[in-house]
Amino acid sequence: TINLIYAAILGYLCGSVPFGLLLTRAAGLGDIRAIGSGNIGATNVLRTGNRWLAAATLILDAAKAALPVLLARGLWGEDAAMVAAIAAFAGHCFPVWLGFKGGKGVAVMIGSLLALAWPVGLIFCAVWLLIAFAQKMSSLAALTAAATAPIFAYVIVNEKLAATAGLLAILLFFQHRANIMRLLRGTEPKIGSEKKAP
Ligand code: G3P
Repeated sequence: TINLIYAAILGYLCGSVPFGLLLTRAAGLGDIRAIGSGNIGATNVLRTGNRWLAAATLILDAAKAALPVLLARGLWGEDAAMVAAIAAFAGHCFPVWLGFKGGKGVAVMIGSLLALAWPVGLIFCAVWLLIAFAQKMSSLAALTAAATAPIFAYVIVNEKLAATAGLLAILLFFQHRANIMRLLRGTEPKIGSEKKAP
């Protein structure tokens, strides 16, 4: 219905705001796409050496997904909220403003899940932290959290949220394809290490 289309447009527009790029540019650090992995996300902003900017990127990228989800739920209901989440994810990963070359969706998935069902969002964060501390790799932590999210969504909420989380996880894996290749080759850099292949 028309409301789901509104939710999709709202989600895409919010999701496509590239906070990592805007914040690093505003801070005079140049183009984040020329640094580290070239990604516009918080992990790569951290490679500029500015922790506060990385934290702000994480929070704002999560918020830009949570906001349309909560708005869509209030205005049009739960199905619209899930559509907004998927659209925000698509907007972040494929922003029209950056030639469809966007981020990898980790912060956006956190924000969406927290807004859709906060216990599932919190578990995503817990899994991320667990793997990040154990293995010191942001991508591996994100891939593990994303892969397990549909299971927790199914157990805690319902199959609809599990399907939504599953779709987000598939997109997140696709966006991490270069990271997955590096993980398989054993060349993925650890959090806090400086160098990284583009
Ligand atoms: O947040 C994205 C993270 O999982 C990987 O980022 O910059 O190391 O490719 P990056």
